[in-house]
Amino acid sequence: MKESGESKKTRRLDPSATATGGASSAHLLFVGLILPFILILLSFTASPPSKATYHSLFLTLANNATAARHLHALTRRPHVAGTPANADVAAYVRNALSAASFSVHTASYDVLLSYPVRRSLVLSPSPRPSSSPSIAFDLVQEIYPGDPYAAAAAEAVPSFLAYARSGSAAGPVVYANYGRVEDFATLKALGVNVTGAVVLARYGKIFRGDIIKNAEDAGAAAAVVYTDAKDYCEDKRWFPEGPGMPPSGVQVGTTYRGLGDPTTPGWPSTAGCERLRAAELAASGLMPGIPSLPVSARDGEAIHKTVGGEVAPDDWQGGERGPIYRLGPGPGFLNLTYIGNETIATIENVIAVIEGKEEPDRYVILGNHRDAWTFGAVDPNSGTAALLEVAERLVKLQKRGWRPRRTIVVCNWDAEEYGLIGSTEWVEENREILASRAIAYLNADCPVRGPGFHASATPQLDALLKEATKRKVQDPDNFSQTVYDSWISSNDSPLASCSIGRLGGGGTDFAAFIQHAGVPSADMCFGEGYPVYHSLYDDFVWMQKFGDPLFHKHVAVASIWGLVALRLADDEFLPFDYISYASELQQNTKILEDGMSGMPVNFDPLNKSIEELKKAAIHIDNQRKATEMEAGLLGWTKDLRKVRELNDMLMMAERAFTDREGLPQRQWYKHLIYGPSLHDDYGSKSFPGLDDAIEKAKSLNTSDSWYFVQHEVWRVARVVKQASLVLKGKLT
Ligand SMILES: *[C@@H]1O[C@H](CO)[C@@H](O)[C@H](O)[C@H]1NC(C)=O
Ligand SMILES: *[C@@H]1O[C@H](CO)[C@@H](O)[C@H](O)[C@H]1NC(C)=O
Ligand SMILES: *[C@@H]1O[C@H](CO)[C@@H](O)[C@H](O)[C@H]1NC(C)=O
Ligand SMILES: *[C@@H]1O[C@H](CO)[C@@H](O)[C@H](O)[C@H]1NC(C)=O
Ligand SMILES: *[C@@H]1O[C@H](CO)[C@@H](O)[C@H](O)[C@H]1NC(C)=O
Ligand SMILES: *[C@@H]1O[C@H](CO)[C@@H](O)[C@H](O)[C@H]1NC(C)=O
Ligand SMILES: *[C@@H]1O[C@H](CO)[C@@H](O)[C@H](O)[C@H]1NC(C)=O
Ligand SMILES: [Zn+2]
Repeated sequence: MKESGESKKTRRLDPSATATGGASSAHLLFVGLILPFILILLSFTASPPSKATYHSLFLTLANNATAARHLHALTRRPHVAGTPANADVAAYVRNALSAASFSVHTASYDVLLSYPVRRSLVLSPSPRPSSSPSIAFDLVQEIYPGDPYAAAAAEAVPSFLAYARSGSAAGPVVYANYGRVEDFATLKALGVNVTGAVVLARYGKIFRGDIIKNAEDAGAAAAVVYTDAKDYCEDKRWFPEGPGMPPSGVQVGTTYRGLGDPTTPGWPSTAGCERLRAAELAASGLMPGIPSLPVSARDGEAIHKTVGGEVAPDDWQGGERGPIYRLGPGPGFLNLTYIGNETIATIENVIAVIEGKEEPDRYVILGNHRDAWTFGAVDPNSGTAALLEVAERLVKLQKRGWRPRRTIVVCNWDAEEYGLIGSTEWVEENREILASRAIAYLNADCPVRGPGFHASATPQLDALLKEATKRKVQDPDNFSQTVYDSWISSNDSPLASCSIGRLGGGGTDFAAFIQHAGVPSADMCFGEGYPVYHSLYDDFVWMQKFGDPLFHKHVAVASIWGLVALRLADDEFLPFDYISYASELQQNTKILEDGMSGMPVNFDPLNKSIEELKKAAIHIDNQRKATEMEAGLLGWTKDLRKVRELNDMLMMAERAFTDREGLPQRQWYKHLIYGPSLHDDYGSKSFPGLDDAIEKAKSLNTSDSWYFVQHEVWRVARVVKQASLVLKGKLT
C-alpha cells in the first residue's frame, strides 16, 4: 500500500545506505546486486507494521491488573454528580488519560440536579388509631460487620428518587405490581380505587419514572417503589455472603422522564444560557407530579402485611416465603414526606483525543459515564476502568508507531444517572459537527455485571461486532473458547447466530447520539441485570466476590470495545453493512404487518422504500468491491477521493433516518427507526412513532386514529427513502 511503498523507496535511495562505494569488482557486485536485494529484504521487515498487526498487538496488551487498580481507585467513595467526591474522580480520570498522553480537556455544563433534604415514611396498620402501633421506617441501608467501606458509606446520598416532587401525602395503600399501564388497567378492571391512595409498586419491568407517572395518571396521591426479594434475592443469599440485594438495600434512581438538563430541552446548558421557567418545566409533563420514595425489600414486605382486599393475581405475588400479596386499598395507611433540593450544579465531561493521521475530521467516539448513585463498581465504573484500559493500550500502540487513520475521541460523562445529562448536553452543543463528522459512538455503561456477552447496536455494525468477538478475544469464563463461541452457544436460536439488541430504549448515554443526532451506535456488556443495582452494595467488594473476581471480564470488554473502535478508526473502507440493516427493517415491518391483519393500514410504501434501501446497499457494496479489486489487480493505490466519497455515504446514511419534526409529541427524538416506547423509557422499539400510533388506534378504533397510523407509515417510508438516496449518492 501507499505508505509502506513510499518508505521502501526512501530506504533504497537513502544515500547513507548506498554511499559505501569501493573499487573491487566483488565489492561492486555486492554493492550493485546483492546489497539492494538485502536492503529490500530489510526494508520489508523494517517497514511499519500493518494496521491489522497493530490490532492484533492491541489484543495482546490486555492487563487485568491495570483494570483492577483503576476500578479500586475510582470507587473509593460514593460519587454522585455535582459533589466534590465526583470532582475528585473526574480529576483521577483526567490524570490517567493525560499520563497516557492523550490530549485531554473538560466540557462543563451547569445543570439542574436534585438531592434529598428530608424523608419520612410512616405506616399505620389502619387509618384509625388501632392496637398496632405505627411504624416509622428508618430508610437506611445497613452496613455489614467488617465492611471495609463502612466509613465511606456514611457519605452516600440518602436513598431517594431524583427530581421527586417535594411534599407530604397520605392515603390507604394500593398494590400495583410493576406499575405498568397494564397493571393499572387490571386494578381498574378489578374495581380497586387508586384515587387518593399511596401506590406500592415493585421494581423490575419498566423505568421507575414511568411507574410514578402511571401512578399519578391513575390518581394516586403518592408512590412507594420497593425491591421485591423474589426479583432481587430469591435464594436469600444476599451480600456479602451472596450476590443478592440485602433486605435493607434500596435502589436509588431518577424519575425524570426526559433526557439532558430538564431546564434546557434541546440546547446545551452552558453557563448563563437560556432556561425554562418553573411553570414551563412543570408543564413539560416530564417531572413527577406526586411525591415518591424508594424502599427496601424488608420495608416493602412490612407494608404488604398491612394490605387487605382481594388477593392479587398469581403473577403479582412474591416469593413463597413472604406474605400473600393483596390489592387494597388499605387498611394499611402510609404517610410519606419527601423534601428535595433542586439546584443548578456544575458537571464535568472529560474528553480525550488521539488525532487521526489521514482523516482527522472523522470521529470514532467511545464513551462511559463516571457519576454513580453510590460507589458505582458495576454502574458505571466497570466501564470507566475498561475505558482507561483501552486508553492505555492505545498509547502503547502509539509508542510503537501506530497512528489512527481517523480521530479517536474518548468521553467520560457526568450526571448520566440523573437523566443522561452530560452526554446529552455535549451532543446538543456539538450537534452539527457530530452530524457531519461522527462515524460511530461506542458505549459501555455497566459492562461487567456477570457472565455472558450481550451487545446492542444499529444493524450496520452487527457484522463488525461479531467479527471482533470472533477474533482472539477469549471468553473470560472459559479460556478454551472465544467470546463469540460462548455468545452463540448461549443463544437458543437453531440458526446459531448471535442475537444483537437494538437501541430503541433510553437508559444510557448512546441515546443522544443515535436518537437525537443519528450517529450509528453500539453498547456492550457481560451479564444482564445484577441485584445490587443502584444500591449501597454496588462496591469493589461485590465486584471482586461476585462480578469479576479475576478482572478477566473487564479485560475482555476492553478488548472488544477497543478492537471495534480500531477497525472503525483504521479501516480504509468503513466496515458498515447496510444490507443487513435493510434485512432487519424488512423483518421488523413483517412482524408489525403480521400483527395487524384486517386493520386499515397499508404497509406498501414502507415495504417499497426498504426494497430500495436494500438495492442501494448492494450497489454501494459492489462499488466498494470494485474499487478494491481495481487497485488490487492493477497494483495501484486506491483512488482516495473515491474511498472518501463512499465512506461519506456510509457515514451519512444513518443520519437520513432522522427527521426534523421528530416523533409525535416527543420532538427531541429525531430518529424514526429507533426510539423508546411512550410508556416505558427502557422499552426498545423499532418504528416508535408508528408503534405508538398503532397502540392508540387499536384502543380508539376511529378513522382519525387509523389515518394517523397511515401517516406514520408514510413518514418512516420517507426517511428510509432518504437513506437509500444517500447510499446511491445520486441526485434524482
Ligand atoms: C375513591 O377514593 C377516593 C378517596 O378515598 C374517593 O374520593 C372516591 O370517591 C373513590 N371513588 C370511588 C369510585 O369509590
Ligand atoms: C402525615 O405526617 C405529617 C407529619 O410528618 C403530619 O403533619 C400529617 O398530619 C400526617 N398526615 C396524615 C393524614 O396523617
Ligand atoms: C440546596 O442546595 C444548595 C446548593 O447546594 C444549598 O446552597 C442550599 O442550602 C440547599 N437548600 C436546602 C434547603 O438544603
Ligand atoms: C469451555 O469451552 C470448551 C470449548 O468450546 C467446551 O468444550 C467446554 O465444555 C467449555 N467448558 C465449560 C465449563 O463450559
Ligand atoms: C489476573 O489474572 C491472573 C490469571 O488468571 C490472576 O492470577 C490474577 O489474580 C488476576 N489479577 C487480578 C488483579 O485479579
Ligand atoms: C414486500 O413486498 C414483496 C413483494 O413486492 C413481498 O414479497 C414481501 O412479503 C413484502 N414484505 C412486507 C414486509 O410487506
Ligand atoms: C373497528 O371499527 C370498525 C368500523 O369502523 C369495525 O368494523 C371493527 O370491527 C372495529 N374493530 C374493533 C377491533 O373493534
Ligand atoms: Zn449507569
